Parts: sequence; C-alpha cells; structure tokens
Amino acid sequence: MADSAKRALTRRSLLVGIGAAGGAGAMYAAMGVLGLAPGPATDPLPRTGGASGPAPYVPPGRSDFTLRGGRPARVLVLGAGVAGLACAYELGKAGYDCVVLEARDRVGGRSMTLRGGDTVTELAGEHTGTARGAGGASPDGSSGPAGTATPAASAAALDRRLVRFGPGTYFNSGPARIAQWMVTLDYCRELGVPLEVFVNSNASAYVLTSGMTAPVRMRTARADAYGYISELLAKATDAGALDARLTPADQALLLDFLSDFGEIGPALTYTGGDRRGYGSDPGIKAGTALGRPPELAEVLSQGLGRMLTMDAGYEQAMPMFQPVGGMDAIVRALAGRVGAARIRTGTRATRITTGPGGVEVEIDGGAPLKADYCVAALPPHVMARIPANLGADVRSALATPVPMSAGKIGLEYGRRWWELEDRVYGGATETDLDIGHIWYPSHDYHTERGLVVGYYNTGPNAEAYDAMPHRERLRRALAYGARVHGARYRRDLLDAVSVAWRRQPHIEGAWVRWPSTSGLSLLQRPAGRVYFAGDWLTHLIAWQAGALESARRVVTDLHHRVLKEG
Ligand code: ALA
Repeated sequence: MADSAKRALTRRSLLVGIGAAGGAGAMYAAMGVLGLAPGPATDPLPRTGGASGPAPYVPPGRSDFTLRGGRPARVLVLGAGVAGLACAYELGKAGYDCVVLEARDRVGGRSMTLRGGDTVTELAGEHTGTARGAGGASPDGSSGPAGTATPAASAAALDRRLVRFGPGTYFNSGPARIAQWMVTLDYCRELGVPLEVFVNSNASAYVLTSGMTAPVRMRTARADAYGYISELLAKATDAGALDARLTPADQALLLDFLSDFGEIGPALTYTGGDRRGYGSDPGIKAGTALGRPPELAEVLSQGLGRMLTMDAGYEQAMPMFQPVGGMDAIVRALAGRVGAARIRTGTRATRITTGPGGVEVEIDGGAPLKADYCVAALPPHVMARIPANLGADVRSALATPVPMSAGKIGLEYGRRWWELEDRVYGGATETDLDIGHIWYPSHDYHTERGLVVGYYNTGPNAEAYDAMPHRERLRRALAYGARVHGARYRRDLLDAVSVAWRRQPHIEGAWVRWPSTSGLSLLQRPAGRVYFAGDWLTHLIAWQAGALESARRVVTDLHHRVLKEG
C-alpha cells in the first residue's frame, strides 16, 4: 500500500472511531485539527441551508477537548443581543468561560418586547427633523415637521417613557416574525420556546394608497388586479399580439390559466365575482355581492403592486411564526441557558486591547476585564466608536455600514374592534402612507384588550418619525389609522408607545446597509483576538436568523482556533 493511501486510511479510521465514541462534535473537531473540515466559506456573506448550503453546524462540545487536550478559553462577549447571547450559549456547551457585557439595562438588544411597567428610553435631542419622504405631508393637512434629523448618536439627553399597558398586553417593538426556513425556529425547538402562527397576510385586512379615496379589503384589491391583468393579457393573446412569442397550443394553455387566475370567464372579460368579497356574508341567505369592480383605469391608478405582493417575498411568505407571549422569549431562554451570573447589564466597554496572549476590555466604572478572546456582538457603528488597537483597516470597515431607521408604535385598545367589527384576525393593512403597515395581533384572539401596531415604517418615512416627539408620531398614526378604520381608531385607546430604533441608546439603528461590501470579509475574520458577530455580517440583515448564523460561524472559527492553538 502506498504511503499516501495508508495515511488516508489511518485518518479515515481515526475519524470514524472518534465519531462513534465522541459524537459528531468530536469528529468534526478532529477533522478541523487534521485540516479536513471545510475552511471558511469563500462567499463573504454565507447563506444557510439548502442542498448547496454550507456544512451543517456542529456545536462545540466538551468531548472535543478530551480528544485534543487543551481547555475551553475565557471569552468576553460584548453585547447581549441575539448574536452575543447565542455566542455565549454555544460556547458554553463546550465549557467556555464566557462573560457577556451589555451596556443597556436589559438583555435582548433589538429583540425588545415591551410590557406594562417597562421603561422605554430614547436618545433625546432636537426634534426638528426634516420629514424626508412621505412624512412631510400631514395626515390631517397641517404642515409636517421641518429641519434636519439630529443624528441620535450626538444627542446626550434621554427621553424616558413608562409603558402602561395592562396585564397580558405586549408589543414586539423589534423583530416580530420568523420565516419557517430560518435557523431561529431551530433555536426555538432547542430552547423549548413555544410557537404560534404570525399572520403576515390577511385577505380581510385592507390596502390604502394615496391613489385611493377609501380603503379596500386586500381580497377585493387582489381580485380586481388579477382580474384586469388577466383580461388584458387574454385579449392581447386573442388579438394575436403574442403570436410571435407563443405557439397556438401555448396560447390555449395561457388562456386556460388566465381564466382561473383572473376569473374572467369565456368572454375574457373581468366583471368581478365572489373573490371580491360580500357586502353581507353568505349564511342562511345568499351573500350580497359587493357590486361591480371599479374601472380598470381606477385600479391602475391605485398603485397597489407592492402592497399586493408583500407576502410573495421569500422572507415574508406565510406561514410565519412568533414565540407565544412575545419575541423576547428567545433571548430570555438564551440568557437563561447562559446564566444570569455570566451577564453584566449596565456595563459598557470603553476600550479594547488585543495582544498576543489575551484581550483586555476596559469598562465604565470597574476594573478592566481580561480574557483569552473577545466577541464584539455590537452594531458596527457603535463598535467603531470604542477605542481599540484593532488597526486602521478594521476601524474603517466598522465605520462603513450605514445605520438605518425603522420605527413602530404599539396602540393598546380596551376592545378588539378589529375582530368584533371588521372581522380581521391578525395580518396587516398595507399602505403607501408614511405609517407603512398596520398590524393586528396574531394571538390571544377574543380577549378583551389587544395591541395594534399603528405604524411600522422604514427608510425616509422612519427618518421623519425619528425626528418627531412621541405625541406627534401618535397623532399621525391615529390620523392615518382613522382613514382606514374610522373614528373607532381613536376610541378605546388605552396607551401608546413608539420606538425609533435610531434613537435607542447603545443600538442607534434598526439595522445597517452596506454601501459597498468593502471591509465585510475583513470583519468576518478576527482582528487579533477580537471576533465580530451580528446580522450585519450576513445576507440576513435585519433578521434574528442573521445574528444566529453569524454567532454559529464565530463560535465555529473560535473553537477551531482554540483546539488548534490550545
Ligand atoms: N425582519 C424585518 C421585518 O420582518 C425587516 O420586517
């Protein structure tokens, strides 16, 4: 037998033996030590899952050290958001000595669920922002705010607001929905976090655009759009407009498809049907029809393309899920597994020094902490401000992603009028107004109180809302909401809480945008003994799944290094 064949056989037998004795973790660790495990992905933004996805994640295990010798390292994790907690949780599986430092007074980062008794703090500063985008026009005709939004980071004062929601009411002010393909669901399974459906799209909810005089139920708008598009395409096909493109047989198939897709019948004309819904629903008596659809020109003028396809996006397709009782169930479960003794809230890192033998983190009001490694699971724009000897290229890369605005308002009502009167159970009303979306609760149906998300806006609309005081955000939310739901939108309101993510202390952004990916792959590697983690280092920006994927990658890289270097 040739030497190389003997070596391969020996290695293979060793790995099979280790796999049988120590499980997949031990085998994978040994593969890493032997240089057989897959190296870092070449794509700087790795995707997860799918047949062509990266190798399955194998958590570090204590047995990995039994095999190789060495010991689990001490790791300081900066940030107790999803990424930081997941890093500490995963490393903890192999006995790493992790301490998580969190500048805020609560864990979870953007995974913030608000309940009665909580305090929401915002960076204050000038509320004289320019309402860029649709925010400039006021819902009731008065003039909008003027000026330029003060960068939240420069505002020193804090605005504190006590949440007065009643028992059982909660507001997922950050993440609120999980797609079924996301790794977040795997963590819910592993951590025992119960799930329920998040109704991301509801045919009974409404659409309202600035081209419409009154809101229309989603099902009605969809029926009209599908119907008229089908009619146009069918008539064009019938008139020979597609002869150069389609064979007669394919034209027949297309007409057959359009007949069902748009309910246009043999005359190839859309005249409406029961897909539009009813004036009064069928029961003992037949339902009363809604009537004829509006003219084609009116439907086109409504500008509904984006609203009708919101749930067609890969990340937004139904069914989606939410943890029962609030999104923070995930971070609370992670924090519980990490252990309260290992998490120090109200502790801000003020300097990071990496050296050949370890890393030192200076903190506000305490002695410096030392560890073998550090994982910085902070937003890049926050991390960029912390003095550190990580090099000019790392500093410049950290300053590259642009923090983005997003905001929500939670409106607690004493009566579920949307269920009682509108027959809307969960889902969203889609608008092109500056409020973006209105969400109805997908939980605790038929209870007394309920929380409607009165706006969820992003981009320039959210920037405009960042610059408004809470009462102005509320005023606009109520004025626009009343256009959809009438006067009851103001009645029965018990409390309202708005969150502008650009103004959240120590977070200062809903998520980030990379203007160019220059610097991204640099930050996916450690700078000395400092690793970076967060959704902002993945293709899943603005999703907890991104933070979890990033944490898994950092944990894998760090663990392999510890196994290799001891
Ligand atoms: N993940 C965010 C959402 O679902 C962006 O809206």
